[in-house]
Amino acid sequence: MSTTVPLAGVIGDPVGHSASPRLHGHWLREYGLSGHYVPLEIRAEDLATVLAALPRAGFVGANVTIPHKQTALALAAEATERARRIGAANTLTFTAGGIVADCTDGVGFLANLADAVPDWQAASGPAVVFGAGGAARAVVDALLRAGVPELRLVNRTRARADALAKAAGGPVRVIDWDKADAAAVGAGLLVNTTSLGMAGNPPFEVSLAGALPGAVATDIVYTPLETPFLQRAAAMGAQTVDGLGMLLHQAVPGFARWFGVTPAVTAETRAAVLAG
Ligand code: ATR
Repeated sequence: MSTTVPLAGVIGDPVGHSASPRLHGHWLREYGLSGHYVPLEIRAEDLATVLAALPRAGFVGANVTIPHKQTALALAAEATERARRIGAANTLTFTAGGIVADCTDGVGFLANLADAVPDWQAASGPAVVFGAGGAARAVVDALLRAGVPELRLVNRTRARADALAKAAGGPVRVIDWDKADAAAVGAGLLVNTTSLGMAGNPPFEVSLAGALPGAVATDIVYTPLETPFLQRAAAMGAQTVDGLGMLLHQAVPGFARWFGVTPAVTAETRAAVLAG
């Protein structure tokens, strides 16, 4: 690459709400690196053309977000094993041999948990995952690999949960949405991956009663930071972990590959992203 200023960005549609430009911009300044990270609003029908052209414009890589995560994987020349397992890509690196696709959502999810609750143990009890959409795939994969003894997958559309359980393998038990109120009984970890509670969406109203003492609850929604799900979990005594940390941690491998420094996720990083 002839340019001396590496470029990266986040490709989505829409992408204006993404906190990634703020996050990468903060790290570039913190580490005194030259580079730029920009939002790229790209329509689905233009994705292949844009991905082919970006390396020629000086881009070393890109994050991809909704609705492009699956298509991006299909367009890659190479993919990490975890991206193939999850069936989606969120981190692309442009190499001489083409696009290398990775999915860092699962490791970002686990790193956020480890950061916030260092003594949480996957083996300590069943995990409950609400939702079976795109985000749930990475979370389920990460939790099974971390060694949860049982994973209860609760989704409004049963067929979607069945398909995810089948693809994931392992000790996954699908629970119907009308039985969701009992899903938390005896659980050590509660995870919301549904869009319930996100600004502008209906609240999360499932009971979280009966979880194990010391249970941990985490939401991948981070707008607002304190979601109805986390409020419910806190009210019944769970330790709560908000979803912003997952966003910060999933960004680390991409930044390291593109800009050459592995960035630290600290209280200052959070504050910089929240400052807007
Ligand atoms: P993402 O990629 O962010 O996971 P998604 O694939 O659209 O987005 O998934 C959204 C999740 O929120 C799904 O599990 C969805 O349930 P369905 O599979 O039944 O659609 C869940 N969800 C969205 N609105 C919901 C609602 N009102 N009640 C219950 N679950 C809801």
